[in-house]
Amino acid sequence: MQQRQLGDRTVSAIGLGAMPMSVPGSPDAAQAEATIHAALDAGVTLIDTADAYTPDGALGHNEELVAAALRSYGDASDVLVATKGGHTREGQDWGLDGRPEYLRTACEGSLRRLGVDSIGLYQHHRPDPDVPYAETMGALRDLLDAGLIERAGVSNADPDQIRMAQEILGDGLVSVQNQLSPRFRSSLPELEVCEELGLAFLPWSPLGGIGNAKDLGSDQHAFAQVAERHAVSPQQATLAWLLRLSPAVIAIPGASRPESIRSSAESPTVELTDDDVAALR
Ligand SMILES: NC(=O)c1ccc[n+]([C@@H]2O[C@H](COP(=O)([O-])OP(=O)(O)OC[C@H]3O[C@@H](n4cnc5c(N)ncnc54)[C@H](OP(=O)(O)O)[C@@H]3O)[C@@H](O)[C@H]2O)c1
Repeated sequence: MQQRQLGDRTVSAIGLGAMPMSVPGSPDAAQAEATIHAALDAGVTLIDTADAYTPDGALGHNEELVAAALRSYGDASDVLVATKGGHTREGQDWGLDGRPEYLRTACEGSLRRLGVDSIGLYQHHRPDPDVPYAETMGALRDLLDAGLIERAGVSNADPDQIRMAQEILGDGLVSVQNQLSPRFRSSLPELEVCEELGLAFLPWSPLGGIGNAKDLGSDQHAFAQVAERHAVSPQQATLAWLLRLSPAVIAIPGASRPESIRSSAESPTVELTDDDVAALR
């Protein structure tokens, strides 16, 4: 598996997005465990989760699945678990709370559920328009200083917010996680800022999101054609395209089945030509 840098840590270029295991109608715990184990067997060393990933509103469902699967795997010491805080959940509703005191409590909950003393990568999930961003970033700084998190990331942040985050967090900030896929490309300016500042960029919903990913080739014909040329799936061609966009990219395709992550983990071997890239632009 190709490797990429996340601050001082080296991780697999393809991570596992764990969200599809904690949505309404998601698989049972045994399938979730098998999916996470398949990812680790395939060389995946980054797992992306969040306290807010839950099928029913109870915070922590996904973090608990990830923690349990890592415990039952055996030696998973080379795996970096990246979680997030800052979203609230009530049933199927998603809210925001960017207050420092909320983030501290959320982080403590994630620490407990993941069963660690310090979180490898803690990402602020989404800016809260009711709380100045600098205040929320100050809370992340405090979590770094207290040793409760080893590295910080931001998500759904615009270029100005990324720059502000780096001013406040310094080297503690290692990543940005924004939406980027064939049909959603408006985060390319944030990718450029990441390259400039030496941050990793984790495209979320890289295949178009749960429910859309399977149809990727049908509405993205250029990706279907490139995939056919390389005898791979449109999803594998898409992940190869994202990795080719920049060395800052670490893709985190979601999966709720072992086959999906096994297939995604093979995508770094797809060698796109300049003609392919031009066609996908
Ligand atoms: N920061 C944020 O605000 C935010 C928002 C959304 C998501 N995320 C993160 O980003 C991750 C990825 O996004 P996502 O899960 O929403 O969408 P996605 O990765 O675009 O699509 C996920 C779906 O793609 C299918 N899939 C994965 N690999 C495949 C392959 N090689 N071939 C065919 N189908 C494949 C999976 O099917 P199966 O389920 O059948 O395996 C899964 O349901 C999430 O899991 C989460 O960690 C972050």
